[in-house]
Amino acid sequence: MIKKNGRLCEMTTMRVGGKPSSFFYPTSYQELANFIYHSPHYYLLGGGSNVLAPDEGVAATVIKLDRLPKILKVVKETEQEVWIQASASISKFSFLSFCKDLGFSGMEFCAGIPGNIGGGLAMNAGTPLGDFGTMTEEILILFPQGKLEKLPKEKVGFGYRSVHVPTGAVFLEGVFKLKKNTKENVSKTIQSILKHRQETQPVSHSNCGCIFKNPTPVSAGQLIDQAGLKGTRMGHAQISNLHANFIINKGGARFDDIISLISLAKKTVQEKCGVTLEEEVKIWS
Ligand code: EPU
Repeated sequence: MIKKNGRLCEMTTMRVGGKPSSFFYPTSYQELANFIYHSPHYYLLGGGSNVLAPDEGVAATVIKLDRLPKILKVVKETEQEVWIQASASISKFSFLSFCKDLGFSGMEFCAGIPGNIGGGLAMNAGTPLGDFGTMTEEILILFPQGKLEKLPKEKVGFGYRSVHVPTGAVFLEGVFKLKKNTKENVSKTIQSILKHRQETQPVSHSNCGCIFKNPTPVSAGQLIDQAGLKGTRMGHAQISNLHANFIINKGGARFDDIISLISLAKKTVQEKCGVTLEEEVKIWS
């Protein structure tokens, strides 16, 4: 289904972004394959938690992936391990709840990370405790030419917050290998991760997660903090006082203000620390 109405600020966790040319809501893999085969330029939107979109919108179709089939099930198990299949439109929260309820361990690092499984695979989301690439056994991917393919993880080329697939490819499903544990242990780990997150990240403000990748071995947040930029404001956007790798929208922030803060952080960290920061967030234009 094609829709003309809707603004990206209603669909992204940063709450910024105007209207695209149109939205496309595929309900099947075939429908999506036909569409992208005929479309030279499109953006993919899952949970909208790692995207910054301009206030004037984008001159392209935004493909919303949330009406694709929802799959979340155990596909294989041994005495100690379990393989879970999950489709792109399943939220990380639902996936983790499923794991918690059944006592499956390995994806706890996802606790509190917004967005869906598709986005998690597409950027190899994670924390120092783990990432999607490590947990993935196999993916189902749709290439821009419309070809659907199952790939073992070795062929995906998961790197630090990156994957080696062609631009425009869509991650449709993943199979993840977890370890059997107890519901209590999994729950305890999740609670402690959520507590740490609440104490160290601006969870109560609109944001798009970490702005920059960590330039190993240091944390980008630590560098921006040391550069003295915590609390810096441009309009209604602000470098978080709690964690300097987050920019928060204090209400009505403009895309340009956020971009100015990103540029300022890059320039200052380069000058003061000699480190080049690279964006983790996807900036649409
Ligand atoms: N730190 C500061 N100042 C700050 C922020 C952090 O000094 O403003 C210090 C902390 O005190 C700590 C170190 O930097 O000693 C690392 O901080 P933290 O534990 O917060 O981890 P991080 O490396 O900054 C990573 C992920 C986060 C994830 C946390 C979980 C990346 C780019 N960031 O942050 O992921 O939530 O670990 O602890 O991998 C995301 O990807 O969107 C994201 C937020």
